[in-house]
Amino acid sequence: MDKKELDWAQLGFEYIKTDYRFSAKHINGKWEDGSLVESEIISVHEGAPALHYAQQCFEGMKAQTGPDGNALLFRPDLNSIRINEAASRILMPEVPREMFFSAIEEVVRANQAWIPPYGSGASLYIRPMLFGVGKNLGVRPAEAYEFRVFVSPVGPYFQSSGLAVISLAVSDTDRASPHGTGSYKIGANYAGGLLATREAKALGADEALYLDAAEQRYIDEAGSANIIVSMTGNRFVTPASNAILPSITRRSLTTLAEDCLKLNVENRPIDLRGEFDEFEEVAACGTAAVLSPVGRIYFDGQWHNFYGEGKEVGPVMQELYDQLVGIQKGDKEDPYGWIHQVQI
Ligand code: PLP
Ligand code: COI
Repeated sequence: MDKKELDWAQLGFEYIKTDYRFSAKHINGKWEDGSLVESEIISVHEGAPALHYAQQCFEGMKAQTGPDGNALLFRPDLNSIRINEAASRILMPEVPREMFFSAIEEVVRANQAWIPPYGSGASLYIRPMLFGVGKNLGVRPAEAYEFRVFVSPVGPYFQSSGLAVISLAVSDTDRASPHGTGSYKIGANYAGGLLATREAKALGADEALYLDAAEQRYIDEAGSANIIVSMTGNRFVTPASNAILPSITRRSLTTLAEDCLKLNVENRPIDLRGEFDEFEEVAACGTAAVLSPVGRIYFDGQWHNFYGEGKEVGPVMQELYDQLVGIQKGDKEDPYGWIHQVQI
C-alpha cells in the first residue's frame, strides 16, 4: 500500500487524522467485541463520569517501520499491564490483554499508509484510552465504558529534528502527592500540570520539572517524561518516587545503562540542590520524548547549565539514545525480546 504524502521529516507532535480507529464498549458488566470505525468523533452523554470526574486513563506507544517493512512495537505488554493498573485504581473494568493487543494490531494495520517509512525519523504514535461514559451525576463509577485506540504519525515531542537538547524549569506547584495518583497514567494528573508547563514555557523552558510534594527537594519527573541522571563515578541514577509514572522508556534505559554502558545503576530519591554538583548529564525520557538531553534547569531563581552553554549532548545520553532507538527501529539486535512485530 502506498504511503500518504506527508513531509515525514517535518512532523511535530500534533494530531493528524488517520483512516481508522478501534472502539469497544463495556456494557452491562461485559466487553462487546469492538471494531474498527472511521469517525474520529465520540458522542458521549453529558453526564459521563469521564467528563465530570476524570474517570479516564490512557496509554502512549509508538510503531516504527522496520528495515523489512513490518511495524515494530516497543514492549506493548507493559502498556497492557499499565493501562489495567490505572483502570483498577479508578474503578474501571480492565481491558483484556487479547483485546488490547488485537485492537492495536488492527489499528496499526488498517492505517499502514500512515506509518512513517523506515529511515524517516518519524513514527506512528498510538493512543489507547479508556473512559467512563453513560449518564451519571453523583460521584461514583460509570455504568458503561469505552476503550478506544487511535493513531497519528508524529515527529519528536520537543523539537522538530534529531536529538533535541531541552530545558526544564522547576515548578512550585505539585503534580502528584506521595499517596495520590501520580504513578497512574490518568488524565487528571495532566490537567493539573497544564499551568506548570505554561509557566515553564514563560521562563523559556520546554517543560516543567516537579520536585516531590512533601519536601520540594527530590526530583519527581517532568510534565510528560521521567528523568534520568548520569552522575560522577559512572553512576546512572533514576528517581525513586511513588508519585511518578513507571516509564517504560526509563526502565529500558536503565537496563541498557547497566548492560551496554556498564554504569552503576541506582534507583533512589535524588536531592536536586544537594546533589546537583555531581550531575554530569540529565535527560527526560518517555515514549513521546524518547530521550531528550537536558541542557539546563531553572530553580531557585536562576538557570543551572550542564556541559558549557547547555547546547551539547553528553556521551552517556548520546550512547543510550543510539542503543534505545537502534532497537526500537530494528537497526540493532534486540537481545531482550522488547520488539513486537506487526506483520504488514
Ligand atoms: N511521565 C509522564 C508524566 C508521562 O506522561 C510519560 C509518557 O508516557 C512518561 C513519564 C514516560 O513513560 P513511557 O516511557 O512509558 O512512555
Ligand atoms: C507519552 O510519552 O506517550 C505520553 O503520554 C506523554 C504525553 C503527555 C504526550
